[in-house]
Formats: sequence, structure tokens, C-alpha cells
Amino acid sequence: MKTLTITQPDDWHIHVRTGAILKTVLPHTARQFARAIIMPNLKPPVTSVAIALAYRDEILAAVPKGMDFTPLMTLYLTAATTVADIQAAAASPHIYAFKLYPAGATTNSDAGVADLTAIYPLLAEMEKQALPLLIHGEVTDDDCDIFDRERVFIDRHLTAIVAQFPALRIVLEHVTTAEAVQFVSAAPNNVAATITPQHLLYNRNAILAGGIRPHYYCLPILKREQHRLALLTAATSGNPKFFLGTDSAPHHTALKETACGCAGCYSAYGALELYATAFESVGALDKLEAFASFFGADFYGLARNERTVTLEKTAWEIPLSYGDGDFRITPLKAGEQLAWKLLA
Ligand code: NCD
Ligand code: ZN
Repeated sequence: MKTLTITQPDDWHIHVRTGAILKTVLPHTARQFARAIIMPNLKPPVTSVAIALAYRDEILAAVPKGMDFTPLMTLYLTAATTVADIQAAAASPHIYAFKLYPAGATTNSDAGVADLTAIYPLLAEMEKQALPLLIHGEVTDDDCDIFDRERVFIDRHLTAIVAQFPALRIVLEHVTTAEAVQFVSAAPNNVAATITPQHLLYNRNAILAGGIRPHYYCLPILKREQHRLALLTAATSGNPKFFLGTDSAPHHTALKETACGCAGCYSAYGALELYATAFESVGALDKLEAFASFFGADFYGLARNERTVTLEKTAWEIPLSYGDGDFRITPLKAGEQLAWKLLA
């Protein structure tokens, strides 16, 4: 039997929600990853250290007994965030970054930032405090085609931010385009990017060809094949600027299979297996460990994990849903086979 043993990975971008969903999804993440950067787009958003610490306690309470998992908390940047909030975050041992959502860009981003230049004083303080800025890099203008929103964000906003704050660590989250890969590759070493499994495995046909498939709808939206190939090249290149961030984003199945469905793919149940499938497709399984387990920790200035995990080449069928009687979450690739299996 073919197996692959690697240093235990971390997930540098995940949504775990709260309440019943948290209790269902967190065990999936905790069995795969040692640590994860927890996205703050709750309702209401996680905007202060106090809220983040309460949320952290709720997450820790959902970790199954015997599993060791550390949530790395982030705060949600709003127009009301102050320099004092940044200083408080920097003083907390549990806050690892701020997340910037352009207002209206994605799920629960209404409280996001409308005028990016207005928050420059906050970015200056983050730069000073060595707190990374995590960016959902899409413009939200109605006149901008949804498939162009990432590219236009880079031109209109990110280029200026990177130039203005040369020491600010920036992660362009869930990159989806060849232009983003190019931008991050050419940028100085304080700029990095996460890549999701869905953007490595699928192009936009997955959402729209032969019927409309809401479980492949996420933001930034899947792009053309040429972009998927550029992402796959970046992820398997050994360039430390590109690392794992699933953007696993569970929603109730009923809220996705509806006239106006939510954005987000649920991948935490089999994240490593999905990435292994993508890496294997280009004969690059030897590049998986650094992408999944080294580069993100190095960028955040954290120690690499010491334990290992093992994947086995064994086909298994992904359930049609997770959750109990009260709610269901439909996973990415529901009902299909995965060729790799993470061993307990
Ligand atoms: C995320 C969510 O549901 O919270 N959805 C998504 O499509 N990725 C938000 C986000 O990261 O954009
Ligand atoms: Zn996300």
C-alpha cells in the first residue's frame, strides 16, 4: 500500500462558525491540522480581543478529547477599528493577524472596510506591531465583473498597499488567478498567499456546466482552467510564498441549495486528501509537505510542527452530508470518491 508521511500541517485560513456547526466541523480540522488561522466573519464579527478570546474558548471546548489543536485567532478590521485595538491585539498571545474584508465582498462582510485608504493609519500600526494583514482581495463595485474582481483589486488597491507598507506582512488569501500568482511571486518576501483545494482541483465549469452546482460556489469564484493551472504550478513550485489555506466554509445545505445561495465550500473533512489529489495530478506529491506544513509556519514566524500524519492510497466515498437531524452540511465532492485517506 502506498503511503505518504509528512509533518503535521496547519490550515492558514478556515471558517469554523459557532454552535452546532462548530461542533460538527471542528473535529474534522483537529484531526488533520495542529493549528489553524480562524476567520473572524461571525455575525456579529470578531472585532475585539475580548470577543476573540471568548470565541477561542468555544473552539477549544469543541476539540475532541485526546486531540491537540490550537486555534490562532484573528480580528476583523472595520472602519471603527482603532490604533488601540491593534495594540491590544499585538499584546495578546492569542491574536495572530487582522483580516481585511472589503465591505460586501463575501459572507458576513457587511461590516468590512469601504474606503481602504481610510485605514492606512491602522495598517501603519500593524506594520509597527508586526501583526500580519490577511486580505480578501476582491473589489466589490457593481460594475466589475465577478470573474475580474481579484485582478482589479490587485491593480486598484493591493499594489499601493504593498508599496506603502514595505515591512507589513500581507497574505493575499485564497488566490484564484494567474495575475495574483504573478503579483505575489514578484512582490517582496513580506507578501504571501494561501491557496484552497477547490481552486487547485476545479475551474468554473464545475459550477455551471451541465447544471448549476451550488456546492462549488465560493468566493473568490472559481476561474478559467488557465488560472487553475497557474495556481497548481505555484502550489507545487516549492516557492515559500504559497501555502495551504483551505477556506473551508461550511453552510447549511438548505442555505446553499436555494434561489440565492451562500458562498463557501466545505472541505475540512478531507482537506489533506484533496490537496494530495491535486498535487498527485501533476506528479508533485514530494512538494506537498513544504506547502502544507512548512511555509505557512515560517511566514507567521511560528515553529514547525513536530508530529507527523500519514496518508494512505485507499479509495473511500465521501458522505453526502455531515451533521445531524437538525442540519446538514454538504461537503465538497459529496458522494464521490477520494483516492487518499488520512490515517487516524
Ligand atoms: C466564506 C464564508 O462562507 O465565510 N465564503 C467563501 O466563499 N469563501 C467567506 C470568504 O472567505 O470569502
Ligand atoms: Zn474565507
